[in-house]
Amino acid sequence: MTRRVEAVIDVDVPGATISRHLHGQFAEHLGTGVYGGLWVGTDSGVDHVDGFRAEAVAALRELGVPNVRWPGGCFADEYHWRDGVGPREQRPRMVNTHWGDVEETNHVGTAEFLRLCELLDAEPYICGNVGSGSVREMSEWVDYLTRDGRSPMADLRRAHGRDEPWRIRFWGLGNEPWGCGGQLRADAYADLALQYATYCRDHGDSRLYRIAAGADSEDYAWTEALMRAVAPTGTVGERPAFQGLSLHHYTLAGPWHAKGSATRFSVEDWWRTVAEARRVESIVRRHVAVMDRYDPERRIGLVLDEWGTWWDVEPGTNPGFLHQQGTMRDAVVAAVHLDVFHRTAERLVMANVAQAVNVLQAMLLVDLETGAVVRTPTFHVFEMARVHQDAASLAVHLRGDLIGSGGGVQIPVVSASASTRDGAVHVSLANLHPQERVEVVLDLRGGSPRTAAARVLASDDLADHNTAARPDLVRPRELAVLGAGGPLAVTLPPASVAVASVELG
Ligand code: AHR
Repeated sequence: MTRRVEAVIDVDVPGATISRHLHGQFAEHLGTGVYGGLWVGTDSGVDHVDGFRAEAVAALRELGVPNVRWPGGCFADEYHWRDGVGPREQRPRMVNTHWGDVEETNHVGTAEFLRLCELLDAEPYICGNVGSGSVREMSEWVDYLTRDGRSPMADLRRAHGRDEPWRIRFWGLGNEPWGCGGQLRADAYADLALQYATYCRDHGDSRLYRIAAGADSEDYAWTEALMRAVAPTGTVGERPAFQGLSLHHYTLAGPWHAKGSATRFSVEDWWRTVAEARRVESIVRRHVAVMDRYDPERRIGLVLDEWGTWWDVEPGTNPGFLHQQGTMRDAVVAAVHLDVFHRTAERLVMANVAQAVNVLQAMLLVDLETGAVVRTPTFHVFEMARVHQDAASLAVHLRGDLIGSGGGVQIPVVSASASTRDGAVHVSLANLHPQERVEVVLDLRGGSPRTAAARVLASDDLADHNTAARPDLVRPRELAVLGAGGPLAVTLPPASVAVASVELG
C-alpha cells in the first residue's frame, strides 16, 4: 500500500537559522569511544594523526561536525584537568569508576582533545567538574586555556608548549547534577551554577558561552528553578550569568531495566520506539515554554547536549561500556530528532548526540582488533542532514493520509523539516511506517523549482545494520524525484529517511 501525503512549504518565508551546532557530537571517556576508538596513541602502528585514528577522523569529517562535547557526561564530574596536561608519560593514572571501573591513563587530556577538534574543524565544548571538583579548579581551567596575558595558569600552558590561548566558547557547568553529578536538588544546583558561572571568566576578548546543566527529560521544575535563578526579576539581563541551559533525553522502547536489543526487535517495538522518539518535540517545546516565561527575548539558549537511543549492550561486551549496534530503527530516530531540532531552532541552539564512536547511538563503530571503521545508519542520517547546517528553517505543513498505528500507538507517519540557503531548498523526510510506502508531494510555494534531486536511506529489513563484513548494507541511494514542471513528488520506502534538494529558478 502507498499512502499519499502533501508537504506544503512557503519557500519565501524563512524562519530561524538552524545552527550547525544542532548537529553536535559527544565523546566521553567511556568504553572504547575515546580510547581505542578515536585515540590509538602516537606510538601506534595504526594509521593515525597525532595519535588519533586517521580513518575515524576522516569519516567524521564527512559530517561537518560543528562541535564535540568532552570529557563527559558522568565522567566529567570525576575528571580533574590538571591530571591531563603536560608530558603524557608523567600524567597520573586514575580509575574511571563510573564507566567499567577501568584504568584511565589521562593520555587524552586537554591538548589532545583540542587537537581532535582541530582535526575535525569542530568547536570544543568542555564540560567542567562541578560534582567532585571545585570552583577554583574550573576557574583555573578556563584561565589555563583562554588567558592571553600572564597568570600562573597561562604560564603553565606556556610551559606545556602552547603560547597562544585557545578560543573555547562552550563550557558546561557540570553534568546531570540531579544524578551522577552530585544528586543535588534543583535550587542547590542553581546556586552552584551561578557561582561557577561567575568564576568562569571572560579573559581579554574571550567570550564564554556557559551552559548550566539542565533537566532530565520531563523535569520542567528543574528548568524553572534554573531560569528563576538566572532571571530573578523575571527578565534576563544583557549578559546573563549563563548563556545556555541544557537538557538530556534518551529514546528507549521500554523501561530502563528492559531496554531491549538493538538488533532483535519486533514491529511493535519499532512503533513504540518511533512514538517515543517523536515525544522529544513536546518535551523540547515544554521546556521552551518555561524558558519563555523568564526570558521572552530568548537570550538563553536551550542545549540538548545528550540524546539518542539506549539499548542493551551488545552480548559479550562490558556492560559499563554502553556498546550497541545501530539499525534502520536508530536512523529513523535520528531523523525524527534532527527534524525537531530544525523546527525548534529559535530557542534550541545546540544538540549533541550520544555518542560519536562505539558508545550508544554512535556514528562509527570501530573494531579495536581488526581496525575496521564502520559507518552506522545514523552516520548517514547526519551526513544527509548536513545541508541544513546554518540554513534558514522553513515550516513544513503536512496533510493527507498521515496517521498510522501499530504497537498500541497512533502517530503521524511522516517526519519532515526544511531549510533554504543560496537559492536552494532542502527537505528532510522520514517515513516512520515500518511496512507502508508514502508518496510525498512537495508543494513549494513562492519559488519555482529548476532542478531537483534526492537521496534515500532504506533497507530490506528494519534491523539491517552495517558490519565490517557488510559495511555498506545500509547506505544512501539516489531517489527519483517525479513531476518536472508540476508539483514534485518522491516515494519513500517503508522505514526510510530521505533528503530532497531543489534548486530554485
Ligand atoms: O551518555 C552516557 C551517559 O548518559 C552520560 O555520561 C550521562 O550524562 C548520561 O546519563
